[in-house]
Amino acid sequence: MKERDLWNKVALICIIFASRTTNLPVFYEILKISFLKELKFLNKYFWKYRYRLILGLIFIVISNYFAVKPAVYVRDALDLVKNAVVDIKQKTGVVDTTILVDEFGRQVVIYGLLILAMAFMRGVFLFFMRQTIIVMSRLIEFDLKNEVYNHYQTLPLSFYRKNNTGDLMSRISEDVNKVRMYLGPAIMYGINMVVLFTLTIGHMISVNPRLTLYVLMPLPILSFLIYKVNSIMEARSEVIQRNLAGLSTFVQETFSGIRVIKAFVREDNVIEQFTEASEKYKEASLSLTKVNAYFQPLIIGLIGLSTVLTIYLGGIEVTKGNITTGNIAEFVIYVNMLTWPVTSLGWTISLTQSAEASQKRINEFLKTKTDIVSDKDLIVPIKGTLEFKNVSLTYPDSGIEALKDISFKIEAGKSLGILGSTGSGKSTLANLICRMYDPTSGKVLMDDHDLKDLNPQNLRHYIGYVPQDVFLFSDSIRNNIAFGGDENIEESIVRAARQADLYDNVMSFEHKFETVIGERGITLSGGQKQRTSIARALIKNPKVLILDDCLSAVDTKTENTILNNLQEVVGNCTSVIISHRISSLKLADYILVLDEGKIVEEGTHEALLKIQNGTYKLLFEKQMRGEDATVA
Ligand SMILES: Nc1ncnc2c1ncn2[C@@H]1O[C@H](COP(=O)(O)OP(=O)(O)O)[C@@H](O)[C@H]1O
Ligand SMILES: [Mg+2]
Repeated sequence: MKERDLWNKVALICIIFASRTTNLPVFYEILKISFLKELKFLNKYFWKYRYRLILGLIFIVISNYFAVKPAVYVRDALDLVKNAVVDIKQKTGVVDTTILVDEFGRQVVIYGLLILAMAFMRGVFLFFMRQTIIVMSRLIEFDLKNEVYNHYQTLPLSFYRKNNTGDLMSRISEDVNKVRMYLGPAIMYGINMVVLFTLTIGHMISVNPRLTLYVLMPLPILSFLIYKVNSIMEARSEVIQRNLAGLSTFVQETFSGIRVIKAFVREDNVIEQFTEASEKYKEASLSLTKVNAYFQPLIIGLIGLSTVLTIYLGGIEVTKGNITTGNIAEFVIYVNMLTWPVTSLGWTISLTQSAEASQKRINEFLKTKTDIVSDKDLIVPIKGTLEFKNVSLTYPDSGIEALKDISFKIEAGKSLGILGSTGSGKSTLANLICRMYDPTSGKVLMDDHDLKDLNPQNLRHYIGYVPQDVFLFSDSIRNNIAFGGDENIEESIVRAARQADLYDNVMSFEHKFETVIGERGITLSGGQKQRTSIARALIKNPKVLILDDCLSAVDTKTENTILNNLQEVVGNCTSVIISHRISSLKLADYILVLDEGKIVEEGTHEALLKIQNGTYKLLFEKQMRGEDATVA
């Protein structure tokens, strides 16, 4: 008896030791996970949903209790029947099954029902477990997506120039999704594993520590192998992911560029490239499938080995009288129950690792702060007196000095024309008025307030901006125009459309203002797009109107109509008209001629025409001769 106790103690120490050493790489990974810096960001969400999390933990424990308990009933039932058989044999010499069934049948049925009830209860609590933890992960996913999206909206234009759309999108979709896999499944299965392990091994040791040691021996090897195989699988899935991303980008480009492909008769070429890309994707997928194919039999083989060990060694213990036959059945159930947690260990670790990488990418963007800030953050009504004082701007990313020492002033309600060749800094000037960038030196003043003191949203609220590259949403014309204003009032929309000389065009469409444009609807001509964009700015009744070369795609007649219509609007607001056509500018109260970021000539139309050999005068003469001349 003494010797056996000693043996059991040694076995117990061995179990602990074995699990520590053979599993070292795995434990190392777990250790690393507990120091994950980036995922710490998510702790605030765990706190927010703490009640769900705690409830989830309780459900995990309960469901595992119901998972482990039936093994004990199986043992009891088996032992009951076996003892009964032995009893009857001793008493009567033969085994009379009718007596057996009569006396013990009911009890066995009760055990069966108990096991069924346990399974049912386990199912119920598994459901609750998923309902709390997986739902929690979905709620956090929702919060995180909103947080990232809202943060994106605060970031300045310069941020969007540095990062491409694909990157922005993948961080808010794929990366958030990977983080969710950590918040939901990884945490749930991780905790589940710990609880199940503790319960099962606790039960096993209480029955027989030595047998526990023997049957658990293959498990550390198993989890080590799984960890290794998992790393291989991770690497291969990454290759697949990359191939897939390449494939989708390629497909997307061929569809957006289908007109060019057809016009240049490149279809065969494109098909060939597509086949090549899908071939690569196929190869990568097959290589993953191969590892997978080895994986499953390996696990089942090792589990089988554990089962065989249990029965063989258990049999020896039974003959020694240390345990009962029922214990063997119980052990077989335990060992099989441990399979899933052991296999899921590697999986949980790699989910967490990729969540860490994804959260790092998300945090990178969340840490980026807008540099367009305002200390005083004044919210005041804007009248529209605009002044530039020695303004220079060097774009930080390209190092190009786009504006050099620009000074001018326009009173509220007056108009300013800006003429210049491409790249002379006209759009940059417009960007500065909207405070998309801050000047490198000098000051931009609106109603004698430095723009840096004004609340940027408040400022932009009073500005009607028609950008050079028209962007319209894939929506109805009505909604595109109404987008500019706060109200969706019919008269305002019609008025804006009339002022932009768009009304007759719209009326000629079958669905009038409801006509959908863009990918899902009709394609507008360049001029129609520009005029829709103008209408969108006009519906705001802006105090400052900026037209950035936005009449380039309309003919001179339409241009004149629009400019004449604008006269009435322009009467109440300051307007900045940027163009390379003198006809668009000649009505302006004051005109600046830009070249390479500097003002080279300035004055009224009449004054500028008086400058001998002036850029403005030469251009005017060319354009009067009917040549379609722009600035040299
Ligand atoms: N966001 C930007 N980042 C870096 N350089 C820019 C940016 N926008 C414009 N530039 C550069 O600044 C110069 C002026 O550009 P821009 O103001 O667009 O000229 P324009 O509108 O007169 O054609 C050009 O050399 C252009 O390449
Ligand atoms: Mg421009």
